[in-house]
Amino acid sequence: MSAALHAEGLNTFYGKSHILHDVGLTVEEGRITTLLGRNGAGKSTTLRSLVGLTPPRSGRVQIFGQETTGLPPYRIAQLGVGFVPEGRKIFANLTVEENLQVPIERPGPWTITRIYELFPRLLERRSNRGRQLSGGEQEMLSIARALLLNPKILILDEPSQGLAPLIVKDVFRIVAQMRTEGISVLLVEQNVRVALEIADDAYVLENGEIVYSGGAAELGADEERIQALAGASAEEWRLDEVLPT
Ligand SMILES: Nc1ncnc2c1ncn2[C@@H]1O[C@H](COP(=O)(O)OP(=O)(O)O)[C@@H](O)[C@H]1O
Ligand SMILES: [Mg+2]
Repeated sequence: MSAALHAEGLNTFYGKSHILHDVGLTVEEGRITTLLGRNGAGKSTTLRSLVGLTPPRSGRVQIFGQETTGLPPYRIAQLGVGFVPEGRKIFANLTVEENLQVPIERPGPWTITRIYELFPRLLERRSNRGRQLSGGEQEMLSIARALLLNPKILILDEPSQGLAPLIVKDVFRIVAQMRTEGISVLLVEQNVRVALEIADDAYVLENGEIVYSGGAAELGADEERIQALAGASAEEWRLDEVLPT
């Protein structure tokens, strides 16, 4: 199996602050990989380093075998990298439909029609402006926009943040569905247990260093470690609460 994404030796700084220390990770093709860690561990910085928004000072990134180190974000997106940033950066003044017309077009199965099938709620709200949407609807719009790029890999930064359990369920259902669509996923999540249930592989970041890399199930069985990770999270649901059985 080849890697959808492979990074090694990433060192990323904000000014003089050295945030990531030799971070390396691999997202295997067709699998869900989760990146966990307490608040401030460097998860968002890792994702931003991978998609070119905060370029690392050293290290390298390969996406589907292509060297992407140093490429600007739009060039990385064109390779089929869908990024759903923290805090849902949608256009508040544009309607749902207009927001969906913004992404760079890449040919593939995802069209606005298919998006409305996956998210009926967005169809109902299509003439509403971004700022009139609930948090859950904004998250769906944010994911929808990334899907319209017809990504081969989808990178999500805390998609369930601030959402009610019922909506979290929808978000996780969609993430799990991506794997059956053949899309590789890199998921950053605060809902540690749920993330480990849907993921195949897992990494844990601590103070900008990878301290665990291995099976998601294996990590999920390590109750002590889970407690330490989940302790940082105000929102915590069990899988049976958010996924249909
Ligand atoms: N734009 C920034 N400028 C300076 N420091 C930052 C910036 N963004 C994040 N940081 C710092 O980098 C560290 C990692 O942050 P982040 O990657 O956002 O962590 P996480 O996503 O795991 O919560 C934190 O100490 C945070 O305060
Ligand atoms: Mg973050």
